[in-house]
Amino acid sequence: MRQNSNSLVVVANRLPIDDSVAPDGACEWRRSPGGLGSALHPLLRHTPAAWVGWAGGTGPAPRLPDIDGVRMHCVALTAEDLRDHYEGFANATLWPLYHDAVEQPVYHRRWWEAYQRVNQRFAEAAAAVAEPGGLVWVQDYHLQLVPGLLRALRPDLRIGFFLHVPFPPPELFMQLPRRAELLRGMLGADLIGFQRAQAAHNFAQLVVKVLGLPATDRRIGVDDRVVRVGAYPVSIDTAEMAALAGRPDVTARARRLRHDLGDPQQVILSVDRMDYTKGIEQRLKAYSELLASGDVKVRDTVLVQVAVPSRERVGQYQILRDRVEREVGRINGEFGRVGEPAIHYLTQPFDRAELAALYRVADVMAVTPLRDGMNLVAKEYVAARVDDTGALLLSEFAGAAAELEQAYLVNPHDLEGLKQMLRTALRAGPDDVGDRMRAMRAHLHRHDIRAWARSYLSALDQTGSLVTRLGSTG
Ligand code: ADP
Ligand code: G6P
Repeated sequence: MRQNSNSLVVVANRLPIDDSVAPDGACEWRRSPGGLGSALHPLLRHTPAAWVGWAGGTGPAPRLPDIDGVRMHCVALTAEDLRDHYEGFANATLWPLYHDAVEQPVYHRRWWEAYQRVNQRFAEAAAAVAEPGGLVWVQDYHLQLVPGLLRALRPDLRIGFFLHVPFPPPELFMQLPRRAELLRGMLGADLIGFQRAQAAHNFAQLVVKVLGLPATDRRIGVDDRVVRVGAYPVSIDTAEMAALAGRPDVTARARRLRHDLGDPQQVILSVDRMDYTKGIEQRLKAYSELLASGDVKVRDTVLVQVAVPSRERVGQYQILRDRVEREVGRINGEFGRVGEPAIHYLTQPFDRAELAALYRVADVMAVTPLRDGMNLVAKEYVAARVDDTGALLLSEFAGAAAELEQAYLVNPHDLEGLKQMLRTALRAGPDDVGDRMRAMRAHLHRHDIRAWARSYLSALDQTGSLVTRLGSTG
């Protein structure tokens, strides 16, 4: 069948929207803050596309409006699916395992059954929506079986798979009781994309070891097909963030925020989902020790920690939130003064303008995950620093570190190293900070979300027509 690349179907666990209550009490849908939605939103706005995903919650699928011209197809999850697929196999088995097992992965046979069942439902929904010969782009660790299931249902489609999180080394992946099925599921795709070359290498090694297939880091032979593999580091809409951050109202808001923070000499900012991979506890410990030693003083320096609660019914996330909140309370109790907390702790979701204002107010941005597929917050901060100021303290274990080499790079497991690098970033002179920021900003202007989509989709789309259209969106 002829390839019809005029249509693109994105399949992801989440639709890029959340429901919320408008000021007048009505229910409204808005763009959700997650990394994946943020990453793909600017691309799909310019492409005739459909998105197959879950709208959050359980029960019958809600009827959804198109968002920015993208048709939303909702896959319904039952309470059992939510518990065993999303909270279970996806976020208590795969997520910790893929992030270096910084928390212990949990294995339950019931969770695997739910993973298969829900992947089948997503594959059927995508098969029903995709045009003959169309492109389907499956996203992330929740849906690793979908490429294989979809190929069985619709061999006419061209199927891509992209993993936003790290893909672990063989020693870790080999723990998975259903490792062979997961690899085979991914191999249903024509092109498998990872954030980093190391992940592609890990995958190829596992395919040889577990499935005995001929594989290099770039090509894998499966039956009579060749599956291509590659690294495509995801990015952000750099120009959009820069334009937002440079808006007069955002600049004024940043000034106001600094004033409200007590006009300190230095503002340190961290913005994370509340997740044990983000290294929040290690960062708080480093900060607390710097306060205790007098290297950092409360009136001169403040830390703003934004931590949006996430996956709140998963035990490991509840424990983390309790520990973080106890530690923030302890640090404020010990080092804060009336009207002058050491840490401003915020758990609210913010709109993009408010986030941009926060980025503009931050003299030092501390992004210190223990492991992260990419970390878009680091890239957003760089894009927002339109005057080439600001120091980015960045974990070596974030995918972003491979690109933002001029950041103040740090190993977040090394507490002394973390304290030292935070001190260095706080005391860095304007020339050093400016040189680093300029280089990182130039990189992000070349490697933005459109460059990412273009490079992935041009590898997937053999006719090139979708990519031509992407090129014309500017
Ligand atoms: P992850 O995908 O693991 O959550 P990323 O850093 O890659 O981490 O992506 C997080 C995304 O969520 C970014 O686009 C960031 O702007 C957004 N985000 C994080 N915290 C908030 C918040 N409090 N309000 C709104 N958006 C947020
Ligand atoms: C990471 C994952 C995404 C996920 C996002 C938010 O970025 O790679 O697939 O959507 O976190 O997590 P959540 O569990 O709220 O979807």
